[in-house]
Amino acid sequence: MKALVLSGGEGTRLRPFTYSMAKQLVPVANRPVLEHCLENLRNIGVEETGIVVGGHGAQVEAAIGDGARFGMRITYIRQEAPLGLAHCVSLASGFLGGDDFVMYLGDNVLADGIAEAAETFRRRRPDAQILVTKVADPRQYGVAEIGADDTVRALVEKPQEPRSDLAVIGVYFFTAAVHEAVRSIVPSARGELEITDALQHMIDHGRTVTAQVYGGYWKDTGRIDDLLECNRALLGRLGTDRPEDGTGGDVDADSVVEGRVVVEPGARVIRSRLTGPVVIGAGSVVRDSRVGPYVAVGRDCVLDTAGVEDSILLEGASITDVPDLHSCVIGRWARVRAQGESSHNRLIIGDHTQAEVLA
Ligand code: DAU
Repeated sequence: MKALVLSGGEGTRLRPFTYSMAKQLVPVANRPVLEHCLENLRNIGVEETGIVVGGHGAQVEAAIGDGARFGMRITYIRQEAPLGLAHCVSLASGFLGGDDFVMYLGDNVLADGIAEAAETFRRRRPDAQILVTKVADPRQYGVAEIGADDTVRALVEKPQEPRSDLAVIGVYFFTAAVHEAVRSIVPSARGELEITDALQHMIDHGRTVTAQVYGGYWKDTGRIDDLLECNRALLGRLGTDRPEDGTGGDVDADSVVEGRVVVEPGARVIRSRLTGPVVIGAGSVVRDSRVGPYVAVGRDCVLDTAGVEDSILLEGASITDVPDLHSCVIGRWARVRAQGESSHNRLIIGDHTQAEVLA
């Protein structure tokens, strides 16, 4: 089975980060979301993957490479504009040929893997198989109505009045029957070729589309709060999912470490308290600070006399003399510091940034 990973799109809901990076490269628990996805694909034995990329394609290619690291061959497929998930299938039709494939949305995290779903698809081999899960507000997702024998009766993209609480998760298994459906549909009201419409077309033309309820942890990381929630969930599994990690960095005798903490090689922790789960990225320095729980500090960050909880710091970020930060996502090489000389707050922040300061 081949894989098609969608890593284009504009990521408007993850601005400002997506002005300068692909949303699928934003890290959770210090790993780009896209890497979590490729690991799941490797674990079901995928050897050939096509990755659809958009405007930040060169960055995705530089970060992921030829796939050798994931035990697979990767082909990059350029999408000029985000014209929809079914458009991606159509662009990739040459790469996919007549093979079965799994399509994986590159901003979705399925922390318990997709082995069971892949096994069911291989065994039952319907024309297509989707994964679903119950959600509180189905209006933000594709929504599925399921009938007897797990067959899908209807699918609607982001309905205002959902007819079920089963959201479509971003992992789809297809036989080559999908290509005819993709060729037959037209763009939706929002101008995209929707994969939900292609699936509905298959159902309407007598094809078998089945659904499996995903029992593991799933998150679409397309929005900041979801990203933070996912970070908490994956950090909560530290030491189980990442047995290869240890404390390779340097923690001095004046520091206190409690709970599951990973200090990557080359990182230094000085006179600080780390309350797990926490990851401190390679080359970072944490001095006179309190970090955690649920904090992922990227590579080459500096925390000096800082206090941070429930947050993600991307590569090179620094925090100085700010004692009480919660639920933050701090971008690459961004600096946050207190200044003692004036009683005013000073913010130099870019487009679509959010800042929440004490009143
Ligand atoms: O997360 C699950 C949901 O994902 C499903 O419930 C929906 O049915 C499905 O349409 C999708 O909805 P989103 O609004 O979250 O899709 P998004 O635009 O975020 O795109 C999903 C991924 O596909 C993301 O990694 C970007 C990529 N993409 C998207 C489009 C529209 C592309 O590579 N090219 C595209 O043209």
